[in-house]
Amino acid sequence: MKRYAQIVGWGKYVPSKVLTNDDLAAMVDTSDEWIRTRTGIAERRIAAPKEATASMAVQAAREALAVADVDPARLNLIIVATATPDYLFPSTACLVQDALGAERAAAFDLAAGCSGFVYALAVASQLIAAGAYELVLVIGSETLSRIIDWTDRTTCVLFGDGAGAVLLQASEQPGGVLSSVLGADGSGGDLLIMPAGGSRQPASAETVAQRLHYARMDGREIYRFATRTMSKAAEQAVQQAGLALEQVDLVVPHQANNRIIETVTKLLKLPEEKVFVNIDRYGNTSAASIPIALKDAMDSAQIRRGDKVLASGFGVGLSWGSAIIEI
Ligand code: ACO
Repeated sequence: MKRYAQIVGWGKYVPSKVLTNDDLAAMVDTSDEWIRTRTGIAERRIAAPKEATASMAVQAAREALAVADVDPARLNLIIVATATPDYLFPSTACLVQDALGAERAAAFDLAAGCSGFVYALAVASQLIAAGAYELVLVIGSETLSRIIDWTDRTTCVLFGDGAGAVLLQASEQPGGVLSSVLGADGSGGDLLIMPAGGSRQPASAETVAQRLHYARMDGREIYRFATRTMSKAAEQAVQQAGLALEQVDLVVPHQANNRIIETVTKLLKLPEEKVFVNIDRYGNTSAASIPIALKDAMDSAQIRRGDKVLASGFGVGLSWGSAIIEI
């Protein structure tokens, strides 16, 4: 009997502190007008000093488990997609596993930047389809505010903190994750990089003085890459699911820049109302952006049971991923 990975729970958590464009204009040489017109962002959330990636992941996970009425002790696997783990080790997923009391669950982190959630969704659904697991929690969680150079106006206006989670359950009912397409081009790795803190350049007084523990980005090149790959991967995922683009009810793209989303919407010849956007409120939350958007789209009834949703991400690596989910 064929097994499907159905989404049975979803949740999100965003910190309560709001940082507006005007707040940023008081910190660096920028303006609300520049940020809105170039990115579509109006405000973003910033984690409180006591919060970090695992604690936000736990909040989103608890909500997803409550929606599905599933006891954490029943979980088989927890995957946390993140580029901002609490530590290099242990994994953030292990911290989440402990905090949830998911004593029967395996746990690991997945590092694919902003494509991380779609990558994790693909891995989880394949493990379920193969018969290995029944209940898998997939979380995207990021505390990007801790790796952003708050003196660099070209990056600090773009990012925000938050977490989103979905619970996948094995089912014989057709639906759930219908297809996924993943890709990578490591030759573009230096376009978005945190240069120090790993084995290549361990932390030292020098790396700190040179500000090498912050994200560095070539925005224009990433922009070009994003518009090129997103539409292609989206079309492939639709095709692999045996659908036509017109049969997709809602596209939930990674929220990196509203202009990227608009360009992809045009390339795919989609009506605007079929593309979900919430970047104005949260900025780019990397691996958390798609699950947060899924939850917001559910809450606003832009996604209803039975809908076919196209999730599409791109980012660090460089990497990309698209998936079709029947809710
Ligand atoms: N405020 C005011 N001016 C600014 C700011 C700012 N915050 N940032 C840059 N500028 C200036 C630049 O210095 C430049 O000035 P110059 O012409 O005198 O040199 C001018 O604005 C234009 O800069 P561009 O880089 O050409 O601006 P662009 O329209 O390309 O927008 C942006 C920049 C928003 C970063 C865009 O390139 C982008 O969104 N790229 C993709 C970024 C992305 O998606 N990153 C994440 C992907 S992976 C992940 O999600 C983790």
